[in-house]
Amino acid sequence: MSTHSATPRLTLHDLRKFAASRKLAMLTCYDASFAATLDACGVDILLIGDSLGMVVQGHDSTLPVTVADVAYHTAAVARGAARAFIVADMPFGSFQLGPEQAFANAVTLMQAGCQMVKIEGGAEMAATVEFMVRRGIPVCAHVGLTPQSVNVFGGYRVQGRGAEAAQRLLGDARALQDAGAAMMVIEATPEPLARRIAESMQLITIGIGASVACSGQVLVLHDLLGAGVGRRPRFVKNFLAGAGSLEAAVRAYVADVQAGRFPGPEHVYAEAAGG
Ligand code: KIV
Repeated sequence: MSTHSATPRLTLHDLRKFAASRKLAMLTCYDASFAATLDACGVDILLIGDSLGMVVQGHDSTLPVTVADVAYHTAAVARGAARAFIVADMPFGSFQLGPEQAFANAVTLMQAGCQMVKIEGGAEMAATVEFMVRRGIPVCAHVGLTPQSVNVFGGYRVQGRGAEAAQRLLGDARALQDAGAAMMVIEATPEPLARRIAESMQLITIGIGASVACSGQVLVLHDLLGAGVGRRPRFVKNFLAGAGSLEAAVRAYVADVQAGRFPGPEHVYAEAAGG
């Protein structure tokens, strides 16, 4: 079988190899032009996040995003980026009914051009992860602050604070790894807990408001560029400020992540509330 692109697309095998010697840089991306730029700047993984509901569509949460929306943006990103590994988010309501529903919707996203799908949730999603992985769909888990559950959490709050919640989150992470997840986003959890998960897991861990000990980091592209208004979470850093150009900002992010300079202590959460 021959492939057509001059630049071979990164595989999970490549990412595991890179992660043995340096950190991985991941960014969200929603269109072909940004995909080409981020690709040229050396971003390893592009995530078509359901954050597109907020930063592209203007909703106040990710809940209105559909599989068709994510598939549309995934196809655009896949056309724009030749090298980066592409992960697509499974939106709210597209996988919670069970493994068969998740598999069918994941196929739509894989056929749109991603190499992996991401699903939010803990141990309750383990059977769904196992079902998909056994049928050829690589899965990125997403634990901690899972924005699709904002109405259960009562807001966008740091998760895993206190011994009981930390133990539950650790159990979730282990169950998802045992089910076959190859990657895991850890969002908005206290740094010591995120570090403990990252250091005790074999899969690739990607932090956002988590710990520099993770295998890599992710940010929403618009946050990295300082676009948008409103309160910014602690883990956001505007890399465009002072960088001079979009390319310089993205290259600075990639360099800081790869070298373990980002996130700094000011971008992660202490164990006790208020940190
Ligand atoms: O939708 C998204 O952008 C995400 C990242 C913040 C991890 O899930």
